[in-house]
Amino acid sequence: MAGFSRSCLFFIFLLFSISAAKEILVGGKTDAWKVPSTDSESLNKWSGKYRFVIGDTLVWNYESGKDSVLEVSKEDYLNCNISNPIQEYKDGNTKVKLNRAGPYYFISGAKGHCEKGQKVLVVVLSPRRRYTGISPAPAPSPVEFDAPAVAPTSSASRLGGCLVVAFGLLLLRGLF
Ligand SMILES: *[C@@H]1O[C@H](CO)[C@@H](O)[C@H](O)[C@H]1NC(C)=O
Repeated sequence: MAGFSRSCLFFIFLLFSISAAKEILVGGKTDAWKVPSTDSESLNKWSGKYRFVIGDTLVWNYESGKDSVLEVSKEDYLNCNISNPIQEYKDGNTKVKLNRAGPYYFISGAKGHCEKGQKVLVVVLSPRRRYTGISPAPAPSPVEFDAPAVAPTSSASRLGGCLVVAFGLLLLRGLF
């Protein structure tokens, strides 16, 4: 039985991992990949506020042929060096899946744009920080984990309880 509730927790964990992954439009709007006209438009202002987690996908929209997205090293990010990218994307609808924790550096491949501030640093939280920091501000006391112990011996009803708790948590999460 103890083994069962452990697998129940694991199942919930798994569901969360899947449901938490999102597609995120860089800059929060479709025309954000451009030279920022003011400092407050800087994409790092935006990315600094966002909590990126492993599994999230970044999305850029821009006019193909006029701009591009380069994933570069930290050094090339700082120097705006477009000659040696790790990856180059230029299809106009670029999606990059964040599959590790740590910093990602992106700059525009259009000549001179990075120097004028068209660059973004995205830091993906490590899984540990992610799961300790998940609780949103004053959420109502979360669903109790042993709540579904109505018919304690039936593993079928335990499975049902597990599902109820899992989806209850998902629902709660969706509200925030
Ligand atoms: C850009 O990077 C390349 C390859 O690493 C290097 O050879 C070149 O000197 C760099 N250019 C500048 C301006 O730093």
